[in-house]
Amino acid sequence: MDIKKRINELTDEVNYHNYLYYVLEDPVISDFEFDKLLKELSVLEEKYPEYARADSPTKRVGGEPIEKFSQITHRIPMLSLDNTYSKEDVIEFDLKVKRFLGFPANKDIEYECELKFDGLAIELIYENGLFTVGSTRGDGITGEDVTKNLKTIKTIPLKLLNMEDAVQARRAEQTEQKHKEMHEIQKPVKYIEVRGEVLMDKKGFKKLNEQRLKDNMPLFANPRNAAAGSIRQLDSKITSERNLIMFAYGIGEYSGEMSFSTQFELMQKLKLLGFNINKETKIAKNINEALDYYEDIAARRESFSFDIDGVVIKVNDIKFQEKLGELSKTPRWAAAYKFLAKQATTAIKDIIVSVGRTGVLTPVAILNPVNIGGVEVQRATLHNQDEIARKNINIGDTVLVERSGDVIPEVVKVVKKAGIVNFRDPNGNNSGGIGDIGGRIDYFRIPNLCPCCGSATVIDGAAVRCINELACPCQIKASIVHFASKRAMDIEGLGEMLVDKFVENKLIKTVADIYYLYLEKEDLEKLEGFGKKSIENLLNSIEKSKNIAYDRFIFALGIRHVGEHIAFLLIKYFKDIEGIKNASVGDLNSKFGIGEEIAKSIYNFFRLKSNLDVINKLFSAGVNPHAIISEKIGQEFVSPLYGKHFLFTGALKNFSRDAAENIIKERGAVAEKTVKKGLDYVVVGDEPGSKYAKAVKSGLKIISEDEFVKLLNE
Ligand code: IVH
Repeated sequence: MDIKKRINELTDEVNYHNYLYYVLEDPVISDFEFDKLLKELSVLEEKYPEYARADSPTKRVGGEPIEKFSQITHRIPMLSLDNTYSKEDVIEFDLKVKRFLGFPANKDIEYECELKFDGLAIELIYENGLFTVGSTRGDGITGEDVTKNLKTIKTIPLKLLNMEDAVQARRAEQTEQKHKEMHEIQKPVKYIEVRGEVLMDKKGFKKLNEQRLKDNMPLFANPRNAAAGSIRQLDSKITSERNLIMFAYGIGEYSGEMSFSTQFELMQKLKLLGFNINKETKIAKNINEALDYYEDIAARRESFSFDIDGVVIKVNDIKFQEKLGELSKTPRWAAAYKFLAKQATTAIKDIIVSVGRTGVLTPVAILNPVNIGGVEVQRATLHNQDEIARKNINIGDTVLVERSGDVIPEVVKVVKKAGIVNFRDPNGNNSGGIGDIGGRIDYFRIPNLCPCCGSATVIDGAAVRCINELACPCQIKASIVHFASKRAMDIEGLGEMLVDKFVENKLIKTVADIYYLYLEKEDLEKLEGFGKKSIENLLNSIEKSKNIAYDRFIFALGIRHVGEHIAFLLIKYFKDIEGIKNASVGDLNSKFGIGEEIAKSIYNFFRLKSNLDVINKLFSAGVNPHAIISEKIGQEFVSPLYGKHFLFTGALKNFSRDAAENIIKERGAVAEKTVKKGLDYVVVGDEPGSKYAKAVKSGLKIISEDEFVKLLNE
């Protein structure tokens, strides 16, 4: 075999599939096949490092840490945008454009509209097609050289795509059109500076902060700071773990082989070169359509997987852009129309400490109600003692509160102290709360004892935990609420309020008692505000929940560190409770690469008699988890789903969308997001969206959730 040739082929192929996956979101091979190619390449490169190419995808994992960043002066300054906040401002911008170009006020100017990404601006230099230098915007004139870090981002091409790559790449019929489009780029671009924004998506941000909380590290205030912190990082290995994305939105200097007459066309060309261009990029025929674009995006703002802080409206015609030119810091041909802030200032009325399912004491600020972006906010999380101390927060302080997406609102910082500063009594009489460092005390302290049951607490990383695991009423209540929740046993109607009532009236002590509630009908009827009909409904949904997918049952048990995905893996490998119970820490640890801490937590859970009693009681009550998996792990077995393309629409009864997608991915199938040719199955749940109608129209194979489960069990 010609090794060099094979390494070349593999490099091009993997880069190309990377592009199909991350940029076009339209992969033509499964993750499994992709990993196989990547593995083959890295094995060959390890043996023959002399043939490894500079744009090899294996180089995305990060390298040795560096001492410090060097400075890069941008050949063309990186400008910023004029911010507008109202319709009137935007209309004024349009009028100014027309005045400057000498057009009458009633002429339509075409605009290209984009999302305003809330991340970190960067510039990427490509020389002879290869990514050579990447820098931050910095002050617009000079930024920092963060090339190594940027190389780890999968949506940044290491080499520009051109016709040659496209021809070499293996392809499927459905992407023929795309290949044709690629052929349009005839001449390779010698030099180009591509500009855009690096972002961290909201999910990744949440996960990162959760991990940092566990590791006792300061939290990032928002995804923008997390993205910036990840890029301005001396150790690129850390950057590579952060799952950042990049969207391109413009260019700096370039050598001119590429031609385009509009901003929109430029974006399409950049996409063909391999850059990630956001799908929401649209043309507006005039300023009114640009205003409609803003309204549409603002209404869907929360649904994006990353933060945006407005839209950007750009004159589409490049000739007009050139005529309009720029002022010292901002171009005349573009404006940002920003959303109203998702931050507001208000006062902290009180701080309460809640106790969660795992006994962690979480401080929560009770606020003077304040409207943030259309939602009334009354509470904000303060995370933990370290965060309170770092931000120096206390009752009465005026604070800046931020709300973002479905994340719990949080206190960003203190704007004004309440003015009451306590000094520690020199005799030590007011000392003692956790985090007491002595001297000036002007931040709130989490109490030493559990506020719910009065038990002692322990410090566990950044968290303070109540040790009364089995009897603390707050922990019991929270674990019952978790057990009954939608993603666990899905017992409709059994929410926080009812659980509180049941526990306080001693109707339930453990989750197993839920299934014996029907014996207490008389007592239930005595409860205030709980009519016959609601009792009937509740008992029905309790009965319904007995028949549950096995992994959801495991998730419902609330074993520490066992989320939906691990629950799924546990059932996949150990089949049922007996299997998991009998596994040693080593078995758990080696089977699917879970960390030792999680393995121990699972092992210990099944060593506790009280837990086993509850499980037995659940089974005796008729809870009957059914296997959703029948694969013979470890044997030569290929799932019938292998290589198939699925689309889910509507709510499924037994799986969350994520769980369903994970299940099929595990079996080598591909989860699609849009209706398209080549889909093998469209799985339809309750209240499906427009995708369902589209799928019917396109004559695709549509199956119900039951049929889907059958397919899984085949
Ligand atoms: S164009 C000459 N387009 O906003 C125009 N910028 O306030 C320069 N930004 O530093 C930028 N999304 O970080 C442009 N679609 C978009 C953008 C965008 C976010 C950021 C960028 C820039 C800042 C300007």
